[in-house]
Order: sequence, then structure tokens, then C-alpha cells
Amino acid sequence: MRLSLYANQRTLRAVIVFAFSLFCFIGFGHVEPAFGKNDGVTNIFRPLSQPAQEIKETSFLVLLVCAVIFIVVAGLLIYAIVRFRHRAGDEASEPPQVYGSNQIELAWTVLPILVVFVLILVTSRTIADIQNRKAPPGAVQATVVGHQWWWEIRYPELGIVTANELHVPASTGDKRRPAFLKLQSADVAHSFWVPQFAGKTDLIPNKENRMWFEPTKPGTYLGNCAEYCGTQHARMLIRVVVQTPEEFDRWVRDQQQATSVATNVADSRKAFFANSCVNCHTIRGTSAQGKFGPDLTHLMSREMLAGGVVPNTADNLRLWLRDPQKIKVGCLMPNMQMTDTEVDEIVAYLQTLK
Ligand code: CUA
Repeated sequence: MRLSLYANQRTLRAVIVFAFSLFCFIGFGHVEPAFGKNDGVTNIFRPLSQPAQEIKETSFLVLLVCAVIFIVVAGLLIYAIVRFRHRAGDEASEPPQVYGSNQIELAWTVLPILVVFVLILVTSRTIADIQNRKAPPGAVQATVVGHQWWWEIRYPELGIVTANELHVPASTGDKRRPAFLKLQSADVAHSFWVPQFAGKTDLIPNKENRMWFEPTKPGTYLGNCAEYCGTQHARMLIRVVVQTPEEFDRWVRDQQQATSVATNVADSRKAFFANSCVNCHTIRGTSAQGKFGPDLTHLMSREMLAGGVVPNTADNLRLWLRDPQKIKVGCLMPNMQMTDTEVDEIVAYLQTLK
């Protein structure tokens, strides 16, 4: 009798140890890639800018407090299950009858209230700190307008309009140049999310939201629309190009210039302006003043096409013009039924928009 009880206890202990190891193994299998093994630039565990850094610190603190609570509660639960489990011969005796304990009840009422209160204070301090940040003198102001399924990017103070690729300067120790964004929507709700820079902020029709970030390391950082906005929501990609202050200023000067009209593409130019391209697209300094699609004034300065879906190459431009629906099903640019010659001519013209 004594022996079998002892064996049972051992089996139970082995089961618990096994279950715990399995839990750790599976848990770490999922967590580890996120903590550093992948170099994905959308890794929320590798913030590269305020406020993402601040958000990470707060969430780790909250996670730590919750983990301690979980371990204490689960530990007590496992202890009670093992220590007071049913044993042979228990049938005859009745367990001790406890009718409440003021001390214990007071403790498990007051302690959680204190914990929740601390967590509320910590999170609201972070939220207030992020929301109330004022733009310093060197800040870059941009307006981002969400469209199905691309991003219109305006720099009202600099007189620049572009799409999908947001250029910002890197802040350096003595010269802080955070980017302050106004977020608007032209159609449905979208959400601007560059995980390494800041939390998500929605772009809502008829309402202007604001956000900011302050990257310090030059490079290209990826983001996504984070609010379901229709068929091509998943392919509404953001690129933030962080440049050294000098590179950024050069980019600004280039973008501010009107396109120079290359003389050797007169025919190609004609093909563009003879088609309905001009109804939807703007090319500054020409009669093309459409507002529905992306501004093409400096199209060739962008890395990607179609809201970040394909690289900006002559072949992809050709495929796109022949039938945009093949590359991005449901996109709002229709198949213009152009001949191969027209497509080639328009591509030749677009390639002069440097
Ligand atoms: Cu825009 Cu999802």
C-alpha cells in the first residue's frame, strides 16, 4: 500500500516535469526567433526609435509582473493538486472545513488592486509621454494619406508630394529631427504601422490623427497597413527611408525640382498625355494634374511600384501598364487596353521622371 502510493507520487512528479519541459520547449521555440534570430526589419522586439523603445520597455515590465503572478498562482495550484490529491483510505475521513479567513481574503483583494493600480500608472505615463510630445524646431512635418491601397505622402512645408516611400532624416546627438506625421484617409480606415519605430495609428476618414517617431540609424524600414481595408490590404506596404541629414536635404532638393523634359522622348511623352493617365496622376509642371492615383513627378526615385509590391524596373512598369490587375488584383487602376507600342512609349517616358 505504502509502496504503490510512493510510485504514484513519482509518476505524477514525472508527468508534471515532462509537461513543464514540453511547455518551455514549445514556448521558446516560438519566442526565440522573435527575440533575435531573425533579422526581419519588422521585428517589434528590436525597436530603433522612440516611441517604440518606450513601448517595448513598458510592455516588458507589464509582462514581467504578469509572469510573476502567473508563476505564483500556477505554483500554488500545482502544489494543492499534488499535496491534497485523493489517496486510498481517504473515503472515511472528511477534510478540514474552513469557513473563510479575513487575513487571506483581505490580502487577495488588496494585492491585485495595488498591482492593477501600478500597471495603470505605468502605462498611462507612457501613453501621455508619447501623445504629448511637442515637435522640436528641426522636426520634419509630413502628411500621410491612406488610399486603397497605397500611401500618399506630402511634405507641405517643403512642397513635395510622393507615394509609399517616406523619407526622413536620422536624428543625431546634437541635432534632433523627429518626424511628425498627420494621418488622414481618402476612403476607408487604414493604419500606419512601422513596428520598429512606433505603435500603430489609424488613418480615419474625416478625422486627423497624429504620430511621431525619431529614428537614429539610416536604413530602409518596412511597415504595413495594419487595419483591414479591402482586397489588397496585405499589400499596402510602407517603406521609411531614414537618411543622414545631408542625404535627406539632397533628396528634398531633388524632389522639389520640376521634372526636366527630355527632348528625345517627345513621342513617348505624347503617348502618355494622349491616354487617360493624366486624369488620375500628377506630373508637376505638366498638364497632368490628376489626384486619384500616386504623384509621378519623381517616379523613378522610388524603389518599388504598386504600393511596395514589385521593384521599380522597366519590366515591371511594362507589366503594370499592360494590366495592373495582374500584379495587384482589385487595384483601382484599370487595364487601359493599350497596344504594346503605347506601353513601350509610356514606359520610356516614365523612366525620364527621375
Ligand atoms: Cu490600408 Cu489595410
